[in-house]
Parts: sequence; C-alpha cells; structure tokens
Amino acid sequence: MEQTLSIIKPDAVAKNVVGKILDRFETAGLRIAATKKIQLSRAEAEAFYAVHAQRPFFGELVEFMISGPVVVSVLEGENAMTKNRDLMGATNPKEAEAGTIRADFAESIDANAVHGSDSLENASIEINFFFAQKDIC
Ligand code: CMP
Repeated sequence: MEQTLSIIKPDAVAKNVVGKILDRFETAGLRIAATKKIQLSRAEAEAFYAVHAQRPFFGELVEFMISGPVVVSVLEGENAMTKNRDLMGATNPKEAEAGTIRADFAESIDANAVHGSDSLENASIEINFFFAQKDIC
C-alpha cells in the first residue's frame, strides 16, 4: 500500500471541477486518506517548490500557486504514486494523453490542474509538508 500527495491547483478549483477530479482518483481505486482546501501563502508555495527554485519558471509557478485556493489530498492504494501520475497525464497538457486529468481540465504548463508526487521519497516529504499523521486515516 502506497501513499502519494495530490494538489488540485487554483485553475481547476476555480473551474469548479474538484469533485470531478477526486472522482477520477476514487474510480481508479485510490482512497482519499486526507483532504483539505487551503490558500497557500507565498512562503509556503516557495518552500513546497524549493526544488525548482533555480528554474526560470519558478516565479510564475509560485504566483500561480498562490492565485487562489488549492485542494491537497493524500491518496492511498496499490502503486498510488504511479497510478496518480498516470491519471494526471503529462506536465504539459498539450502532450497529455486523451482521457487524462490534464488533457481534460488543464490549459497550459502553468495552469495544469494538478500536481502529484514524482517519487515515493518525495511523496513522504510532500505529505508531511501538508498533513500531520493524525489527520491521515
Ligand atoms: P508540477 O507537477 O506542479 O511541478 C512543477 C510545476 O512547474 C509543473 O507542475 C508545472 O505546472 C510548472 N512548470 C512551468 N514550466 C515548466 C517547465 N518548463 N517544466 C516543468 N514544469 C514547469
């Protein structure tokens, strides 16, 4: 059994498709072990994406992630990390396979609807960034 972190980004929250995206996870057999809607502060967004701090898109990424509320969730299930990434599709929605979340709900590489942990090590770090163990059940 694995756990991974999902973020439904400000574009998808603004489009009112949170339920549709959570349904994709549940329909694929993932369980929502924790979830909450939050407004990230600039400091939180910078800390969460610190690994990208030197990339040219960092400033825009942070601006976008604080432009409105997000929904963060812990997804649990067999191969949860890989399964979530398969459901999301490619980072750039123009390259995402038909039927994936990004192909169906995202507009651009910045406004790309969802984030998902890209390794089990990062999943653990990202889950601990947002949730206390007692809130995951
Ligand atoms: P995410 O999975 O949240 O991880 C970092 C984010 O940076 C990524 O999704 C994109 O939304 C954003 N981003 C913007 N430009 C790029 C780029 N050239 N390569 C990768 N990620 C990018």
